[in-house]
Amino acid sequence: MRRGEFLKPIRLALLGCGTVGGGVVKLLRRNAAAYAHKLGAPLELAGVADRSLKPDRALGLTRDLITRDAAALVVREDIDIVVELFGGQEPARSLILRALASGKDVVTGNKAMLAEHGAEVFGAAARCGRAVGFEAAVAGGIPIIRTLREGLSGDRHRAVYGIVNGTCNSILTTMSLRGAEFKDALAAAQRAGLAEPDPTLDIGGHDAAHKLCLLAALAFGVMLKPAQVYTEGITRVTQDDIAYARELGYTTKLLAIAKEDHGAIEARVHPTLLPREHVLANINDAYNAIYIDSDALGTTLYSGFGAGQLPSATAVLADIMEIARERRAGGAGRAHALGHPVELIRRARVKPMADVICEYYLRFMARDEPGVLGAIASVLGRNGISIASVIQKGRGGKKTVPVIMRTHAAPERNLVRALARIERTPMVDAKPAFIRIEENL
Ligand code: HSE
Repeated sequence: MRRGEFLKPIRLALLGCGTVGGGVVKLLRRNAAAYAHKLGAPLELAGVADRSLKPDRALGLTRDLITRDAAALVVREDIDIVVELFGGQEPARSLILRALASGKDVVTGNKAMLAEHGAEVFGAAARCGRAVGFEAAVAGGIPIIRTLREGLSGDRHRAVYGIVNGTCNSILTTMSLRGAEFKDALAAAQRAGLAEPDPTLDIGGHDAAHKLCLLAALAFGVMLKPAQVYTEGITRVTQDDIAYARELGYTTKLLAIAKEDHGAIEARVHPTLLPREHVLANINDAYNAIYIDSDALGTTLYSGFGAGQLPSATAVLADIMEIARERRAGGAGRAHALGHPVELIRRARVKPMADVICEYYLRFMARDEPGVLGAIASVLGRNGISIASVIQKGRGGKKTVPVIMRTHAAPERNLVRALARIERTPMVDAKPAFIRIEENL
């Protein structure tokens, strides 16, 4: 190839032109010359399937590019790479399988579908000798998929901790730094266009659980289903608990945690207290971060924008570029999209939550009477839970007062048993609240 001469274009089909898809279209236009130079071939948008898209001359979206017939588009002869940004389970899954079967490589940002159907989709890609890029599926613009698959592939990993949902991180930051209650912080995130009108997937922790399934596959070579991830969202986190935890030296975050323990996988998403000086405790607003504890390397942190139009679009483009390079080199796609041959990916043996060991923050609404604190401590003690510190908040003539405790590490089984026992007594007048602490990450 001579200087200034390019090979034939790599032709793309885009399924879905919403926020991220629109970003992909913008970057393809804005960076066309740079991409052509990096690849030695131009990237060309050859079709867009989107039901509500209107032609847009400024973006180069002419009427003839737009179609409603995604099923026909993904098998079109002239398409090289299908970029799936519809989201959701169907028709995304079927369209991806159809595209792979007809020899296309696929790029997707669809964490929910991959978490549920990853074994099927990656298996199909391996059988067809095609690639599935999914960098945009986890933590948007942060190149964490490549990092785990390539950069960290020479090491073994003990644990992955992720702040991987920007909506939750933003809400918890507003609650922590600005004293807002959950519903007001959620409303602010919705006004800012960060939280969806129906925020359930985010605030319920499900989006983070989908991402954790993919991170665990790369880090540990296991395929988890979302239903195997213990998932607790942030809807029950109160301003009072955030403030009391801060007095104990902790910051509240929604963490997605995967650990390997002698072949068993701990996989959980829940509000977590972190020592306030820890680097993850200082990832605020809509930022995401992934903190990985590796055997030889030690700990590393990757942070940046986990969502948003252009940051997420850069992740899609990175996958397109990688596949385009492989195509140019005559490659037959990546058989190892998950960093392991797909047939060697194990089904995860998941550690039951009852066996998970944490320190805990506890809050009891306790009767302010002699002996009550001692009686609560005694139930905890009988269940093998040792108390590290206690704060009682004021008297103020109320029937009950908040008693805050921090415990030493104990299995969750013991804690659940102790709290159930305490709840049944007249010492407290509400269900005790608890938040898990990650003290030694
Ligand atoms: N809604 C997600 C978030 C981004 O708030 O981080 C897409 O997964």
